Amino acid sequence: MAKRASLLLLLLLLLLLVDDGGCWDESMLRRPLSTGNGLCAQILRPLGYPCEEQTVQTKDGFLLSVQHIPHGRGGLRGSVEDAHPVFLQHGLFQGGDTWFVNSVDESLGFILADHGFDVWVGNVRGTHWSPGHVEFSVHDKAFWDWSWEELAEYDLVSMISYVYATTHSKVFFVGHSQGTIMALSAFTMPDAVEMIEAAALLCPISYLDHITSRFVLRAVSLHLDQLLITLGLHQLNFRSDMGIQILDLLCDGHMDCNNMLASITGENCCFNMTRMDYYLEYEPHPSSTKNLNHLFQMIRKGTFARYDYGLWGNFKRYGTLKPPAFNLANIPKSLPIWMAYGGNDALADPTDVKRTIKGLKSKPVLLYNDSYGHIDFIMSVNAKDDVYANLLSFFRSRSWLSSY
Ligand SMILES: *[C@@H]1O[C@H](CO)[C@@H](O)[C@H](O)[C@H]1NC(C)=O
Ligand SMILES: *[C@@H]1O[C@H](CO)[C@@H](O)[C@H](O)[C@H]1NC(C)=O
Repeated sequence: MAKRASLLLLLLLLLLLVDDGGCWDESMLRRPLSTGNGLCAQILRPLGYPCEEQTVQTKDGFLLSVQHIPHGRGGLRGSVEDAHPVFLQHGLFQGGDTWFVNSVDESLGFILADHGFDVWVGNVRGTHWSPGHVEFSVHDKAFWDWSWEELAEYDLVSMISYVYATTHSKVFFVGHSQGTIMALSAFTMPDAVEMIEAAALLCPISYLDHITSRFVLRAVSLHLDQLLITLGLHQLNFRSDMGIQILDLLCDGHMDCNNMLASITGENCCFNMTRMDYYLEYEPHPSSTKNLNHLFQMIRKGTFARYDYGLWGNFKRYGTLKPPAFNLANIPKSLPIWMAYGGNDALADPTDVKRTIKGLKSKPVLLYNDSYGHIDFIMSVNAKDDVYANLLSFFRSRSWLSSY
């Protein structure tokens, strides 16, 4: 307890020491978000894409929005039954908008729809698109009592089951970053993986102990996760006053804040800086402090395991002193996997990616780009040629879609 109290004091002191000016432009985060009427109405329909909002309820009562884009601008190619479903799962502090925030020729979501795929877009609990729960509101502590483990077991499994049941078809999966942690843990479960036709993982993560992100490493060494829990802050929202204070705290004098994105994700070769204002209309999305804590546990311990509740908490919950690990070897060899990773990625470090590959029974198809950072894989203005062309041919090779 004494340790906790002194940590709390330390944080308060640090917050007081932070000068208000900050070293980067906060005003963009203070602007209201564009979330009215949902993602379809905000981005997709105005650009000429058919898009329906659907709601999926998880076993633990969260109401998730899923967008359905049945075809691209050119209309249907072949019959509805022919269009193969693909499900897109965004990463941490992001939402389904991630797949659509560049131009229609650059963004993966649009590209897939225009290539005749039946596109479904996931939005995990707590994002601006999925703020609902049957019982709790975002102001309740109970609303934020989860980490990526629940995002995998409940959100991902519920959303994929919904698409599987609606389309009567196995589903192609695309995930980025935290979306790949969710997939790699969920796909160790037979019931989940049997719904998947093939999986494309952008910046795949199951281990995080070689992370090089200065920003994240500083947050880990400051015990930011534990401090926030001690302070009773269960929602982590960088668009709130507290969130902005935290960013200031992590920046202050310790890194080049003019390039904050690079200090978090690694240097991105092909990020469109002049589009930053537009990105900030939608992102970052909130997540839970418990999720941050779980991710930091992975960084500290080098494990790919369930949430660590401490010895007694683990014993009560799991019957073991340590949280059970997810075993990548339980992902069936028959699941075709494609992975793309980058030499400048400060979050999905190539060393950790290689450990993930080693842990799998199957041999994934690999795409590596030396100059790509973490965000390039979804937002690079060249990703269509550098990454998505390869991803599309992987999917085509896995089905009769070769006729496209
Ligand atoms: C970068 O973003 C700006 C502003 O949205 C846009 O006008 C420009 O076309 C984009 N550049 C590329 C290469 O996509
Ligand atoms: C990696 O990305 C860069 C930047 O777009 C591109 O010029 C290069 O051709 C890519 N390399 C490979 C091997 O695809």
